Amino acid sequence: MPMSAVPHVSSGGIIATYGAYLPRVGPAAVVTLREGGTPLIEARAVSEAVREAEAAAQTETTGAVGPAEALEAVESSGRPRGSGTLRSPAGAGTSGTPGLRVYLKYEGLNPTGSFKDRGMAYAVSRAREAGYRVAVCASTGNTSASAAAYCARAGIRSVVVIPEAAIAAGKLAQAVAHGAVVVAVRGNFDQALAVVRDLVSRHRIALLNSLNPDRIEGQKTAAFEVCDQLGGRAPDYLAIPVGNAGNITAYWKGFCEYRERGKVTSVPRMLGFQAAGAAPIVEGRPIERPQTIATAIRIGNPASWKGAVAARDESGGVIDSVTDDEILNACRLLAAREGVLVEPASAASVAGVLKLARQGYFRGQRGATVVCVLTGHGLKDPDAMMRLGSSPIVAEADTASVEAALAAAGTPLD
Ligand SMILES: Cc1ncc(COP(=O)(O)O)c(C=O)c1O
Repeated sequence: MPMSAVPHVSSGGIIATYGAYLPRVGPAAVVTLREGGTPLIEARAVSEAVREAEAAAQTETTGAVGPAEALEAVESSGRPRGSGTLRSPAGAGTSGTPGLRVYLKYEGLNPTGSFKDRGMAYAVSRAREAGYRVAVCASTGNTSASAAAYCARAGIRSVVVIPEAAIAAGKLAQAVAHGAVVVAVRGNFDQALAVVRDLVSRHRIALLNSLNPDRIEGQKTAAFEVCDQLGGRAPDYLAIPVGNAGNITAYWKGFCEYRERGKVTSVPRMLGFQAAGAAPIVEGRPIERPQTIATAIRIGNPASWKGAVAARDESGGVIDSVTDDEILNACRLLAAREGVLVEPASAASVAGVLKLARQGYFRGQRGATVVCVLTGHGLKDPDAMMRLGSSPIVAEADTASVEAALAAAGTPLD
């Protein structure tokens, strides 16, 4: 299929579209904002950047290995697969990967601006069906925004517990505007989640974190959509940011189920990326004080750790880390060259693919399809977006002053 011909999957909401793949929820209980149906966008600039990174890898003598060799090497050594940077002995050489095809699954275009809406539509519908009147979640921001919106629609009171001063402004504004009761705890996300788990064990309130399997059920529909948009086939690679690890778990479940149902014949290698300052799975230990500009994935002890490891190992994929600089550079590439605005956490998928390409990971994978999941919209985090470009030039309000200011800034108009 030519890159420009990616069909748009229209959505009456994930339950209307993929209800046959979800445990049944009664029609009267369904809460939807017509989430899902997000575009899969061809990414020529990212594909080009991957090609450049591949070419650079070719000229280096590090001899990084691709997935097939990695799998073989790891199986024979008995070490866990994809647990970090993959390199073969120096001098093995690379053949380059012209034509790796990169697509962006722009989940930031969901109703509240993130992928969370898929899981929230289903989890809130089930909570309504079960008669819950109050729901709670811990959040790095997007879960609270989504929970607040869907609960508002369902007539359920939402309580959100967030780490104080650690979530992006847009997300907090959403939760507040949708009428959630927001509790900012003096601690990090992991501590907020511990409180929420405790609250749920003491009171009859619905849990809206991805520990609730209904969230995973809803989110797995994104994997179905990707396959449908690729014309009934799975991508070769699925790159995704990893925080609490619910989403990578959900995608893997979705791909496996689609294969079981005969909708696709293969599943992708799962490529998960954590931020370097918050990379417990990569480091193999919980991180007590996770740090990264990508606040959405600033998580030190992921609740779905096992699910992420299973996705990696069963698919023969990788979970790796990317630095804040790599994340911001990927953000800038997406914004300035693709016209796609994402919050920092989302760009971890693209940053990770570029990192692997630099290491020669995709060597020999000509024409392979890589889908990068872009989990949240850039408007959520205006402070981070301002770091991507130049500050406004201030000038007097007349044409000559504006022309002079532009010339001084090195932007001639002719
Ligand atoms: C924008 C964004 N990207 C990625 C993630 C990570 O998803 P998960 O926690 O399911 O790994 C989150 C979670 O909050 C998010 O908001």
